Amino acid sequence: MLQPLLRRSRAMKCLLLNHSSLLSISSPKFPNSSHHYQILNPQTSPHSVGSWSLKLRFNSREYCSISNSGVKAMASAKIVRDPASISYLNQRDAAEVDEILMGPLGFSVDQLMELAGLSVATSIAEVYKPAEHNRVLAICGPGNNGGDGLVAARHLHHFGYKPFVCYPKRTAKTLYNGLVTQDLPADLSSSFDIVVDAMFGFSFHGSPRPPFDDLIQRLVALEYTNEKNEKSSVIVSIDIPSGWHVEEGDLSGEGIKPHMLVSLTAPKLCAKRFSGPHHFLGGRFVPPLIEEKFKLDLPKYPGTSMCVRIGKPPRVDISALRENYISPEFSEDQAEADPFVQFQKWFDDAVASGIKEPNAMALSTTGKDGKPSSRMVLLKGFDADGFVWYTNYESQKAHQLSENPQAAILFYWDALNRQVRIEGAVQKVSDKESEQYFHSRPKGSQIGAIVSKQSTVIPGRQLLYQRQEELETKYSDGSTIPKPEYWGGYRLKPELFEFWQGQPSRLHDRLRYAPESTDGKKAWRIDRLSP
Ligand SMILES: Cc1cc2nc3c(=O)[nH]c(=O)nc-3n(C[C@H](O)[C@H](O)[C@H](O)COP(=O)(O)O)c2cc1C
Repeated sequence: MLQPLLRRSRAMKCLLLNHSSLLSISSPKFPNSSHHYQILNPQTSPHSVGSWSLKLRFNSREYCSISNSGVKAMASAKIVRDPASISYLNQRDAAEVDEILMGPLGFSVDQLMELAGLSVATSIAEVYKPAEHNRVLAICGPGNNGGDGLVAARHLHHFGYKPFVCYPKRTAKTLYNGLVTQDLPADLSSSFDIVVDAMFGFSFHGSPRPPFDDLIQRLVALEYTNEKNEKSSVIVSIDIPSGWHVEEGDLSGEGIKPHMLVSLTAPKLCAKRFSGPHHFLGGRFVPPLIEEKFKLDLPKYPGTSMCVRIGKPPRVDISALRENYISPEFSEDQAEADPFVQFQKWFDDAVASGIKEPNAMALSTTGKDGKPSSRMVLLKGFDADGFVWYTNYESQKAHQLSENPQAAILFYWDALNRQVRIEGAVQKVSDKESEQYFHSRPKGSQIGAIVSKQSTVIPGRQLLYQRQEELETKYSDGSTIPKPEYWGGYRLKPELFEFWQGQPSRLHDRLRYAPESTDGKKAWRIDRLSP
């Protein structure tokens, strides 16, 4: 992805020019640079905040300007947009982006390479799970794209893959030597599940020379094997499929046809011709200045992810979706005698694993017609008396519970390959308990509980907004919002627990706790169930 290296050691100096004042900030790390930010404020009056603009200059060259009346691109950037309004960069702009990143913005090549390699590794992990696609061959070119591949291989190793590196044109530079010695197995293999094509980036042009011409042909041949429906490895190209023209794509039509393309920073023009099933974007470090200057219109990265999918995921054959659960065994000698203690342990694990809403549970109820219905609710507390959630006492579940006060709750903690089933009789919690919990909730949730006549048919959202607004006005003075009578909690008192831990080849662990009484003493009997 990166241009041959720019002036990394260049010194930096920031000049802030404001109105008639001039303020200079020098960084001891970069004492002599001609790089400066300039804030121009020609219209400020003592009575107004005024307008300002910021120009980013490096070596007398102006890169961009932003102002508080909007951000303007000063240099002409040729941006090509596809119908889905994603930006694509041509070769010159791609080079300029790197120039700015490593020039005035002070990124080092090591940083960018680390981020690029991590983006590639996370993109691969999004699609190809290590259980099914374990052996990864990274074919690394002599330049920065090769460096991205080396970094990706290191991360993949830590993600549980077995990377092999083919690095035929090693460079003597310290940076690259460091990358090949960081945890990478040195051996190559002829048999692998994923091949990372990290041979050439966007600055490459001309015809690939040995040994890369031959390596490219081997990747093309892999595609041929795939067409014959033989199990073969998948190809993941970093930024540009090696051998493709950066803007025109696969000119001969006989080049590599990757299954996955991980574009870095922004897709290059050739990415429009990519027809494989998985196109990802990586490079979640692009500063707003660059986004504005190049008018980059790119998909938002979800959560804390280092990559984001571009375009729709391919339709999958649902019957072929399967996980091979790999987790520690859950044996009888590890099981707590008290299922509440066991639940607390697993719940703590779920919290620690960072699962979103570990307290979300499926609640299943049936009315007198015997027809079951399930929905998610949030666990709001549990102890030896039972498991508590809150809801509307006039909802469908409430009607069913009034007819049949038995229910089942189910937790599924995906990241841990665990589920917990709990079944038992249900009772309303005391009014005092519901009151207490209601008033501990945020004001918006309290109003929401009053607004919603849960499970009834309504003409549209507008009605909800209207009621919400009325109540917000009514309680805008900070007065206490009374809990509606039709809202409160339920407590399920467990009569059965089952702790399930996923294991390879569907030989899962299932430990069931059922109450028994021996010599008049109540205890929990633990039985192992067949998976
Ligand atoms: C993750 C999640 C948590 C939820 N938590 C609650 C909850 O605690 N209480 C509740 O009444 N509804 C909750 N809901 C909404 C319910 O699933 C359901 O739509 C609602 O309670 C009406 O269900 P019913 O018509 O079967 O009574 C939650 C939904 C989700 C997806």
